[in-house]
Amino acid sequence: ISDGPAFKMDASNTGHEQLQQAGMHHDALQFYSLSDDDHGLLVMNHEYIDAQILHSDGGFFDSNETYTVDKTLKEQYAHGISVIEVKKSDDGWNIVRPSVYARRITATTPMSVSGPVAGTKYIQTTADPLGKEILGTLNNCSNGKTPWGTYLTCEENFNDYFDVTSLEGVDKNQQKAWQRYGIKQGYYGWYKNDERFNASLHSNEPNRFGWIVEVDPFNPSSKPVKRTALGRFSHENVAHNIGKEGRVAFYSGDDAKFEYVYKFISDKAWDGTQGLHHGQLLDEGILYVARFNDDGSGTWLPLEFGQGSLTKENGFNDQADVLVHARKAADSMGATAMDRPEWVTTHPDTSDVFISMTNNSKRGKEGKPDKNAANPRHNNKFGHIVKLIEEDATSIAFAWDVFVLAGDETDQGTINGDIYANPDGLMIDDRGVLWVQTDVSSSKLNTDDFAKFGNNQMLAVDPSSGETRRFLTGPIGCEITGVAMTADLKTMWVNIQHPGEVPERLKQQGVKKSASKPNAASNWPDHQLNGRPRSATVLITKKDGGIIGD
Ligand code: FEO
Ligand code: CA
Ligand code: CA
Repeated sequence: ISDGPAFKMDASNTGHEQLQQAGMHHDALQFYSLSDDDHGLLVMNHEYIDAQILHSDGGFFDSNETYTVDKTLKEQYAHGISVIEVKKSDDGWNIVRPSVYARRITATTPMSVSGPVAGTKYIQTTADPLGKEILGTLNNCSNGKTPWGTYLTCEENFNDYFDVTSLEGVDKNQQKAWQRYGIKQGYYGWYKNDERFNASLHSNEPNRFGWIVEVDPFNPSSKPVKRTALGRFSHENVAHNIGKEGRVAFYSGDDAKFEYVYKFISDKAWDGTQGLHHGQLLDEGILYVARFNDDGSGTWLPLEFGQGSLTKENGFNDQADVLVHARKAADSMGATAMDRPEWVTTHPDTSDVFISMTNNSKRGKEGKPDKNAANPRHNNKFGHIVKLIEEDATSIAFAWDVFVLAGDETDQGTINGDIYANPDGLMIDDRGVLWVQTDVSSSKLNTDDFAKFGNNQMLAVDPSSGETRRFLTGPIGCEITGVAMTADLKTMWVNIQHPGEVPERLKQQGVKKSASKPNAASNWPDHQLNGRPRSATVLITKKDGGIIGD
């Protein structure tokens, strides 16, 4: 991406070319200053791919005739992370080319493994008998920063990438674990050209994903590290707070229906200096999972082998087992099943933590958990935001409150101001404004009782009064996800993901995806006749150059 080939509008770039270009479907991003607020690195995740838009001939995942090795490579290289140097000069912001920092990390980049799972039998494979080196990172949804200046990327829906057609020879416990993680026949065809994604043959390969990965954005030759002490689940994002003694807490949601909210607390204190070497703080500490009591109190339950129910008698072998199967450990400890925990953000001045629960159509359905005080609606179509109040980031007890129920009054919503549905991205900036980004799925967008919300959007919220104002609205079919600001709050970047995904309303009118006209819903942002839409980063500044949202 430093001096890479240009993007071709007909999607005819090869796999090798894709490796030198930004990936597809941008999700969260962060800004790292290189000198001041006018020069730095944008580091962003590329969550997943849409084959019909990525490949010039449509490239359906399951077509034996047209699914080539180059397509697999192109798909793998369109995943991962981009590091992009940006600089502001008299003509505004530009990408610096060439750049000594520019980098792509993909689904094939070698990464080391640290923490209790490194080197254990759970992640050993034919290609990596020592369990010490994993190729690639997948489904990089949202992210976080460490206080010491590195980037944390989160592996979310890693369960969709494997071929599991034959269960012959797969250990029964492994099969059970796959069920708990929703590992089913994936819709990607990678296994056809890259055998490690055939989980029937390499049944530990799925255990090598679902982690938080630390990357040093300032050093393009640094090797990313999978930090296993933070547990394995569908990590949405990660946010930190520093405790009184300098120990660091990292909060992370597991985005699936009835999953949990976690917090890792480092054993050791951070000394306040920068550098990748502090990553060891992510290797030693305790992972906790949240229980929300109906009286507004809560407890962080430790996921420590030998503590509580996490014993041999209950089927746990060691700490690595607890972390690889964190969902099962959390079930066993009595964590509270939530309405799809998406982003977590921490307030810069208080120890308050905000967590978006995007929706849960199954809440209260037969055989599923009933509503409770922290998830107060059956069939939670519109979602809500929960606030945790902690005395200190390292506290084990907390208080909590439902900060807002999304939707309008007819939905029993409690928004004070402009209405929205399905909160997903959350970020409290350095002055304390809570930014909320929405992700109404394309199948619901502008239909029935979602019509009143319009397209997905981003809102500015006062965390003390709850006052909510709409800040921007995206093009049709997109979700708004990812926001970064410079420290002076004068520049903001926002990611627009999967613009033009065909919404249900257009499907009903007979507009369909096809290879030659891959997505008729939109051609944003290039606006070429019959052109393909593509995810893009929007740069926002004020006309007078002032502080955004002031
Ligand atoms: Fe990738 Fe849960 O959003
Ligand atoms: Ca999300
Ligand atoms: Ca979402």
